[in-house]
Amino acid sequence: MDTLTLTRPDDCHLHLRDGPALAAVLADSARRFARAVVMPNLRPPVTTVAAALAYGERIRAALPTGADFTPLLTLYLTEATPASELRAAKAAGLVGVKLYPAGATTHSDAGVHRLEAIHPQLDVMQDIDLPLLVHGEVTDPKVDVFDREAVFIERHLAPLVARFPALRVVLEHVTTREGVEFVRAARPGVAASITPQHLSLNRGALFEGGLRPHHYCLPVLKREEHRAAVLAAAISGDPRFFLGTDSAPHAQTAKESACGCAGIYSAHGGIELYAEAFDAAGALDKLDAFASRHGADFYGLPRNTGTLRLRREPVPEPDSLPFGDQRLVPLRAGGQLAWQIAA
Ligand code: NCD
Ligand code: ZN
Repeated sequence: MDTLTLTRPDDCHLHLRDGPALAAVLADSARRFARAVVMPNLRPPVTTVAAALAYGERIRAALPTGADFTPLLTLYLTEATPASELRAAKAAGLVGVKLYPAGATTHSDAGVHRLEAIHPQLDVMQDIDLPLLVHGEVTDPKVDVFDREAVFIERHLAPLVARFPALRVVLEHVTTREGVEFVRAARPGVAASITPQHLSLNRGALFEGGLRPHHYCLPVLKREEHRAAVLAAAISGDPRFFLGTDSAPHAQTAKESACGCAGIYSAHGGIELYAEAFDAAGALDKLDAFASRHGADFYGLPRNTGTLRLRREPVPEPDSLPFGDQRLVPLRAGGQLAWQIAA
């Protein structure tokens, strides 16, 4: 099979940034995806419905003419988020509320310090059926960085899912066997998004012939056994696993630094990278549901109706892309993508 026709997919976890960065990256997502769940970790974070709607307007204004792309907006949860804002978010069609443990990742300093402090908000979200999107890592410096997801699940996520039995929860960018097993064993209403890098790379990619800042993201790449578990979940056909690129652009200078930022840019190959991983696993027939149905069904959105055609034919990737007045180094820079979008 050298061509593949998919229902237009959705990216259920995307960082679009703002201003010139937004303008530089948006077309890559809009060309591939009908919709994307857009993360609220701007500076300042998107903590109000008014800010989210204004951000949605800026995204629409930055779309190339003729593009058919709908941003699905989210709210950044803080310990001070009032119940009224959550109800307004639901009423305004925001699709979820993002929980960043304070200090866990890029622009998470306004996030949550103590999970107990947001129990009132979780109560309201459970009542009004507004999903909680979780960056699932502990920030305890005593916990090894490679164990932070597994420890978060055991210490925090499992108790939270039990305490709020009707709250819908997405374990974003699942990276471990423990994460996959947790979702599989969980009650209904618990799901996980999966990135292309966690499907196709293990932590060896961070040190291949030298230090590789463009393979650094959070949660960090894990051992091979975990990559294999994440891939198995993605190709299993289980509707609790769906596509979320976590494409997270940072300027080349911010990545290639003594203290490089976390985040991998993958929107330029936002569906092609998955096609390659599914193809390598002999599971191309499972890609359509993973990319185009499971996420929509979880969020209670209509499935997309258009199609996107892919062709198995390598395309070389440039070393970098324009990014405002900076440069952006995409995943596979200087290499190639095995699939491309058929015109
Ligand atoms: C994301 C970013 O840069 O905004 N970085 C990342 O490594 N994934 C934040 C996040 O999703 O954790
Ligand atoms: Zn993210």
